[in-house]
Amino acid sequence: MGETIHVKKVTVSYLKAAKANGDKVTMLTGYDYPTAAALDVAGIDMILVGDSLGMVVLGYDSTIPVTMEDMIHHTKPVVRAAKRAMVVADMPFMSYQISKKEGMRNAARLMQEAGADAVKLEGGEEIAKTVRAIVDAGIPVIGHLGLTPQSINVFGGYDLQAKGIAEAEKLITDAQALETAGASAIVLEKIPAPVAKYVTENIGISTIGIGAGPDCDGQVLVMHDVVGLFDKFVPKFSKQYAMIGPLMRQAFTDYVTEVKSGAFPAEEHSFPADPDLVEALAARGRPRSKGN
Ligand code: KIV
Repeated sequence: MGETIHVKKVTVSYLKAAKANGDKVTMLTGYDYPTAAALDVAGIDMILVGDSLGMVVLGYDSTIPVTMEDMIHHTKPVVRAAKRAMVVADMPFMSYQISKKEGMRNAARLMQEAGADAVKLEGGEEIAKTVRAIVDAGIPVIGHLGLTPQSINVFGGYDLQAKGIAEAEKLITDAQALETAGASAIVLEKIPAPVAKYVTENIGISTIGIGAGPDCDGQVLVMHDVVGLFDKFVPKFSKQYAMIGPLMRQAFTDYVTEVKSGAFPAEEHSFPADPDLVEALAARGRPRSKGN
């Protein structure tokens, strides 16, 4: 396997070269400036401003309530931080399903107002015309198949998708439709590894797996799961590389204790004054309060 050397901004041509060379593509979610800066320095290829922010940042139960305004607000700081990584912004629920025209307008907002490098849409054949129109307008599109969280109310849960032959066939057809429509890559979420392997080997664009086994062209995870910041549940397909959540809680508890006890701020956290000023303050004495 060759090594795709690329120090410049990651673009769709990087994805094509990586697929041709068999190099894995890396993607994690990011929703703010410091996280995106850390991801970029770590050498991540793509930062996904996922609508998962609805759950891990905004505290909703699903991604459904996330709005275009939320996506623009969170994409902007990520764009400011990402010097090399390609920034992919999720198109939120109902921002592209109503009409092709609305999909194009909202994709354009994510590019023009937020500065994203690409947009991601959930769905297959049913959104292929919209994908084509967005790509024809000059906007790179990433598809998303398998467990598509915006359809959670139709699925009735976050279960494994494409388990049966008919479902797997449908997913393969959807992947081909997205490729034909001009998508640059497809996220495959929570599907059996052999189905993801088959799709990866039979389409010409990159597959980026999340709970889709090791054979995809790349991998993506939700950043909060990777660093142990989201404690409501940890998906089986995620790996916790650090446990920041308990560290944060301990730091906040220590701060509360030290402020209450007077241990913080100590001398080293305070600013001294010129001795003349100290003397002048002392000479002023105590001001008399009103009513004394
Ligand atoms: O919104 C998101 O974070 C995603 C990933 C789970 C792929 O779509």
